Amino acid sequence: MAKLWGGRFTKSTNKLVDEYTASISYDKELAKEDIEGSLAHVQMLGECGIVTPEEAKTIQRGLRAILEKVEKGEVRFSVDQEDIHMNIEKMLIDEIGPVGGKLHTGRSRNDQVATDMHLYMRNKTRELIELLENVQSALLSQAKVNVDTILPGYTHLQRAQPISFAHHLLAYFWMFERDKSRLVDSLKRINVLPLGAGALAGTTFPINRRRVAELLDFDDIYPNSLDAVSDRDFVVEALSAASLIMVHLSRLSEEMVLWSSQEFKFIELDDAFCTGSSIMPQKKNPDVSELLRGKTGRVFGHLIGLLTVLKGLPLAYNKDMQEDKEGIFDTVRTLTGALRLLAPILETMTVNSERMRHAVEKDYSNATDMADYLAKKGIPFREAHEITGKIVLFAIEHGKYLLELGLDDYKQFSQLFEEDIFEALKPEHVMRARESEGGTAPHQIERQIKLAEQKININR
Ligand code: ARG
Repeated sequence: MAKLWGGRFTKSTNKLVDEYTASISYDKELAKEDIEGSLAHVQMLGECGIVTPEEAKTIQRGLRAILEKVEKGEVRFSVDQEDIHMNIEKMLIDEIGPVGGKLHTGRSRNDQVATDMHLYMRNKTRELIELLENVQSALLSQAKVNVDTILPGYTHLQRAQPISFAHHLLAYFWMFERDKSRLVDSLKRINVLPLGAGALAGTTFPINRRRVAELLDFDDIYPNSLDAVSDRDFVVEALSAASLIMVHLSRLSEEMVLWSSQEFKFIELDDAFCTGSSIMPQKKNPDVSELLRGKTGRVFGHLIGLLTVLKGLPLAYNKDMQEDKEGIFDTVRTLTGALRLLAPILETMTVNSERMRHAVEKDYSNATDMADYLAKKGIPFREAHEITGKIVLFAIEHGKYLLELGLDDYKQFSQLFEEDIFEALKPEHVMRARESEGGTAPHQIERQIKLAEQKININR
C-alpha cells in the first residue's frame, strides 16, 4: 500500500521492515489522544489562517467521525500505515478526501507523538491518583474498626513489640499518600505542550502554540523545540513513581500472604478473592496477592528499559524513542489492575483479632517495657536492658513468659520491681503506653486517622 511518505522512494518497503518498524499494534492505545491533539492543532491552523476556516471545519468533522468509530471499536488499523498517527491521517483522507492532507501542516510526527504521550500520561496519572485513593479509603475503614486490635509488631520478622492493627494498616496509607503526591507533582511536568516543535526546529508556518496549549488545557509550552521532541523524562518519572507504588503494593501483598497462612491466620481473605488448587481440594490460595507481588518485576524492568533506551541518544528524535510505549502501557495496565483489586480485597478481609491477641500473649514482646519500667525508676537504660535480658533468659530457661513469673523472681534481678510491673507488661498496656506522637497508642491512632481523613478529603 502507498506510504504517506512514499514520494522519495523508488521501491516499496520490504515486508519485514514494515513489520519491524510498525508500532500500530500497541500505539493504537493512543488513538483518542492523537485525535484530541489533532482537533486542537487544526483548530489553531484555521484560526491562524494557515488553512481556511472551512477546511478546518471539514477536517474536524472527519476527525470526529473517526473518533466515533474508534470509540465503537469499528476501526481497523493497518501495519502498512506504521503507527497510530499515520493510520488516523490515512483514515481522515479516506473520509474527507485530499483536504485531510492539510492536517499535518506545521507539525511533525515527532511533536505529535510527544503530545499524545503527554495527553496519555495526564489521563492515566489522574486515574491512578483516584485508584490510589480508593485503596487508601479501604485501608482507612479497616483501620477505624481495628484501633484496639493488638497484633505482634515485628522487626527482622521476629516478635518485637505489640502494636495496633490499625497502626500497621495506616503505615501503608502513608506510603500511598507519598505515592499520590509524587504523581500529583509529576503532573506539573506532564502538563507542558510539545506541539509546535515540528520535527525538531520549529516550523515556518505562523502557528500559535499557546492557543493549542489553551485548547488542550496545558499549563505551559516547551520553550525549546529540541527538548520538546526529545524529552521522555515524564515517562521515566511515571515509571519510577510506578515502581515505588509496586514496592508498596508488593510489601503489603507479602504481608497478606503471610497473615493468611495457617501459621499466622491473622486474616482470612474473602472467598471471592481467592482461588483453589487443581489437585488439593482443601486449598484456598491468595493468588491475587501473590501475583501483585510477582508483577513488581516487570514494572522495574520497564523503568530500567526506558532509562537504557534514552541514555545514549543524541538530540533530537530517534526511532529508539518509540520504545517508550509498550513499557508504560504495560505499567499502567499492571497498576490499574492491582489497585482495582486491592481495595475490595482489603475491605472484605476478615480480621482474626482473637488470633492476633493470642499471639502477643505467647511471646516476649513486652520486654522493652520491663526495661523502660526500670529506666523510669532511675536505672540507666543500658543497665535496665541488661537486667531485662537476664530475666528473659531466666524465663526462657523455666519455660515461662514474662507475665508468668512472680514478683519474687523479678526481685532477684532488681529490688525496684513492684506489684505494678504486672500491669505494665500486659499487651494492652504495652500498646497504650506508646503515646509519643506517631506511636501506636489508640489516642495517637485516632489523631492519625483524622489526619488521614483530611488527606483524602482534600484531594476529592
Ligand atoms: N511511531 C513513532 C513513535 O512512536 C512516531 C514518531 C515517528 N517519527 C519519525 N520521524 N519516524 O516514536
